[in-house]
Amino acid sequence: MDLITKIREKAKGEKKWIVLPEGTEKRTLKAAEIITGEGIARIVLLGAPAAIKQAAVEAGADLSGVELVDPAASPDFPKYTETFLKMREKKGMTPDKAAETMRDPLYFGVMMVYEGRCHGMVAGAENSTGNVLRPALQIVKTKPGISSVSGAFLMISANKALGDEGVSVFADCAVNPTVTAEQMAEIAYCSAVTAREIAGIKEPKIAMLSFSTKGSASHESVDKVAAAVKIAQERYPELAIDGELQMDAAIVPSVGEFKAPGSKVAGHANVLIFPSLEAGNIAYKTAQRFGGAAAIGPVLQGMARPVNDLSRGCSVEDVVNTVAMVCCQK
Ligand code: ACO
Repeated sequence: MDLITKIREKAKGEKKWIVLPEGTEKRTLKAAEIITGEGIARIVLLGAPAAIKQAAVEAGADLSGVELVDPAASPDFPKYTETFLKMREKKGMTPDKAAETMRDPLYFGVMMVYEGRCHGMVAGAENSTGNVLRPALQIVKTKPGISSVSGAFLMISANKALGDEGVSVFADCAVNPTVTAEQMAEIAYCSAVTAREIAGIKEPKIAMLSFSTKGSASHESVDKVAAAVKIAQERYPELAIDGELQMDAAIVPSVGEFKAPGSKVAGHANVLIFPSLEAGNIAYKTAQRFGGAAAIGPVLQGMARPVNDLSRGCSVEDVVNTVAMVCCQK
């Protein structure tokens, strides 16, 4: 069974409610039909019901079994507005502004997740990454002990010698333009959770990547990665984490043995942590376009409750798969 099929099957067992705030978006509507029909999750679509139904007719989507919620008309609207106001009062939030913000389906959807009405939210077919992330960062915030949300990709290569039977986790590829050593250590931990929960990798082997292997080069950015390794090893002793490693030392056994002898990770890494968003974002797209690997994600990790972003170029299948992934996130 391939990874996507495994994720979809696992989701079916979870029977989670997922909110899709872009209720009139055509690919989202088709996805809602498939997700409900296949029993992957139970779906709430946000928007004015008449507008959603009209868009569904145009998209040829059957919404039987899908719940429609109009944020402003919902009996939960006053409670959500009040909660949001209290949460953001110190940041200058006013009652009027809170009510206006809660009419935005992205904010209302995140509040449904925060209040436990839905397990998770998926959006981004028609909204930018920043607009999807901001309400989640303001309302749901991070898991205890985690300061930064980050974005991982599940990279699937036909070369089964890479990663765990061809499956690797790359992070951060989507959120933090720059990271400190502390953040890089946290991202390593969160990526190990993603590797286990979603990629089905039982033993994450985490490489902290650099242009240097074990002191082969000196530069402040190398020092940062070495510091991140130390923090991560001290804080998460149960995890196999090593670095700093170059990409070849991380994933090619002969190079790993030569450049980092004795390392339990070098040459066999299945979780790759990058020192900046530039490196991570460019690396996953390079593996995808030059290397022919499939890229699934970004999986937003470290959030207290699951919220995930779609690419605006996403397909109906991407929406279905992202919802399935969110069902698998704790
Ligand atoms: N983790 C946790 N909280 C965060 C994070 C983070 N990584 N980033 C920001 N926050 C919090 C802030 O503390 C703040 O909280 P507060 O309002 O309660 O004080 C809130 O989120 C808003 O912070 P801002 O810095 O004002 O948010 P900003 O508008 O800059 O947006 C964002 C944050 C959206 C994550 C921004 O950093 C960003 O755009 N990152 C790059 C995204 C991107 O373009 N990725 C590449 C494309 S995706 C792809 O190719 C797959």
